[in-house]
Amino acid sequence: MRQSWFPETITGRLVVLRRHRPANVVAFQRWYADPEVARLTRYQDGPVPEDEIERFFQSRVMGLDSLAMAIHRRADDRLIGTAAFSQLDGDNGSALYHITIGERDAWGRGFGTETTDLMLEHAFRNLRLHRVALSVFAFNGRAIHSYEKSGFVLEGRAREAIWRDGRHWDELHMSVLVQDWRARHGEPAREARPGPVPAASSARRWR
Ligand SMILES: CC(C)(COP(=O)(O)OP(=O)(O)OC[C@H]1O[C@@H](n2cnc3c(N)ncnc32)[C@H](O)[C@@H]1OP(=O)(O)O)[C@@H](O)C(=O)NCCC(=O)NCCS
Repeated sequence: MRQSWFPETITGRLVVLRRHRPANVVAFQRWYADPEVARLTRYQDGPVPEDEIERFFQSRVMGLDSLAMAIHRRADDRLIGTAAFSQLDGDNGSALYHITIGERDAWGRGFGTETTDLMLEHAFRNLRLHRVALSVFAFNGRAIHSYEKSGFVLEGRAREAIWRDGRHWDELHMSVLVQDWRARHGEPAREARPGPVPAASSARRWR
């Protein structure tokens, strides 16, 4: 069961997604030391302490609480980033999506959008999720455009939730539903009930 929801590799045209290895923590340290990466991805401003990255890597990247994949450029297998589902919720068939391409020279070349396409395909075909959601800061135009290309639509905004560059910005909430994703890919609708999602992800969410 676990093998099918947490594959070793997912291969696309531009990228190959692989299971993370412990040694990848070194790349995470470098990525999040980049102020621009931190500015685009974190609620807090300023440099990220190394021990915080280490903790994040152990729990949210290597741990079973989320489904994280390393993004490798297919041409030379270079590790350029990470993409993950967190808060996998089998009862409701939903998950939260996250992506960071940490290598700046790999931005704007289509790697991120293809990664998101591959992760959504995995979510809707193999995990049989019903909904994938994300949040993104309103100033992150590149990310918003990339998400829209993959089928995410705006569903709400937390007004002035983030202070960055001397002013408040909204945090946007976007999602894609299985029926919309299937229609975009020319596939017939399927039974609405969520399918089986891995036991390891069944951590209950409480409000
Ligand atoms: C966001 C991210 C995943 C996107 O991946 P990417 O490989 O850089 O993006 P892509 O090349 O696939 O697509 C970007 C699209 O946005 C467009 N774009 C670039 N800058 C833009 C801007 N400021 N406003 C609007 N659109 C923009 C590009 O032209 C491209 O669209 P096109 O293919 O129609 O021309 C990646 O840039 C990244 O990880 N950035 C740093 C961390 C981050 O922001 N993570 C997301 C946090 S929510």
